[in-house]
Amino acid sequence: SNNALILGIETSCDDTGCAIINNHGKILSETLYSQNLVHLRNGGIIPDVAQDLHRACIESIVAETLSKGCLTMDNISAIAVTLEPGLPLSLAVGMKYAKHLSRRYSKPMIPIHHMEAHALIARMQHDIKFPFLVLLISGGHCLLAVVQDVNKFKLLGESMDCAPGEIFDKIAREMKLRNLPEYSKISGGEAIELAASKANNPHMFQLSLPLTDYKDCNFSFNGLKTSVFYHIHRKEKEHNIVAHNLIPEINDLCAATLMTTTRHLIHRTQRAMEFCYLKNLIPENNKQLVISGGVACNNYIFNNLTALCNEFKYRIFRPPPRLCTDNGVMIAWNGVEKWRKKIDIVTKLDSLDIKSV
Ligand code: KG4
Ligand code: ZN
Repeated sequence: SNNALILGIETSCDDTGCAIINNHGKILSETLYSQNLVHLRNGGIIPDVAQDLHRACIESIVAETLSKGCLTMDNISAIAVTLEPGLPLSLAVGMKYAKHLSRRYSKPMIPIHHMEAHALIARMQHDIKFPFLVLLISGGHCLLAVVQDVNKFKLLGESMDCAPGEIFDKIAREMKLRNLPEYSKISGGEAIELAASKANNPHMFQLSLPLTDYKDCNFSFNGLKTSVFYHIHRKEKEHNIVAHNLIPEINDLCAATLMTTTRHLIHRTQRAMEFCYLKNLIPENNKQLVISGGVACNNYIFNNLTALCNEFKYRIFRPPPRLCTDNGVMIAWNGVEKWRKKIDIVTKLDSLDIKSV
């Protein structure tokens, strides 16, 4: 029907998200509980802790989302929920609750792939036609793909080790940036962006560009993290710094980190554009790049990707920050996209299972 309402639930990592969207992509209600501060205090995500926090709020977040939209479960046409990828313990909470709702109110479920949802959300607000190129950069992922249809993705490359957001978070922690009040409540990636903007000499540290000799679209960030750690420790020794203080060159080192990460992202995205041209994966009149994931919030990275797109005559799209990071809206939207095409609408719940619960 044309006035379908899809409820979306996201619990793949450390954010509990819920949203209700109509068939036209209008958001009727959205709620997000972030566990970020708890995990910042613990120095990283502990899966059991994440699961407990999801469990503690899953029921109330759905109830709150319904009531903010002045809706009840009777109004809902289907429940979209993240199936994979993510932390199994976290995923299980959303899946279990979605199944419970599905049984209790006799509503079909729509399983969603978290990365596909990150890629498709840009289509909710912009007229982006298939096929398009997508760069997904977050704390858990880094990949380039051609989105050929709602459920058809061609992976061009991915990280061979860790994700860019992950190294930002680890570098910010190693630099002890959270000792500064200004940085105490923001993610590692935001901290590095802020510190980099205050740099006096962004060229003070030379960090080498990863994978320059590889003619593919893969990424690698581990070597970069190791070099930055090396500089942190070298400077700490040089200044005879005690453990809880910051080295004075911190801003310059953050700028170098951000610059090198950006150059690597640009280098690989340019390769993907060339590959798409050679293999005719994206028609000349349809050249569009979507960037999403938490790291896409970074304006330095976005501005440089925009310059690349101008050069290659691509149009660039970036969802607003709250839709780039993990959220329930993107899951509901992916549900809408599948609902419209009548794909993956599941009524036999036993076929939906997560490996470990
Ligand atoms: O997509 P997301 O919410 O969660 C997943 O990892 O799936 O992304 C969170 C990541 C964190 O690593 C955080 O440091 C990074 O995104 N991030 C940023 C910025 N804002 C968040 N990285 C760089 N610049 C930012 N402004
Ligand atoms: Zn994500």
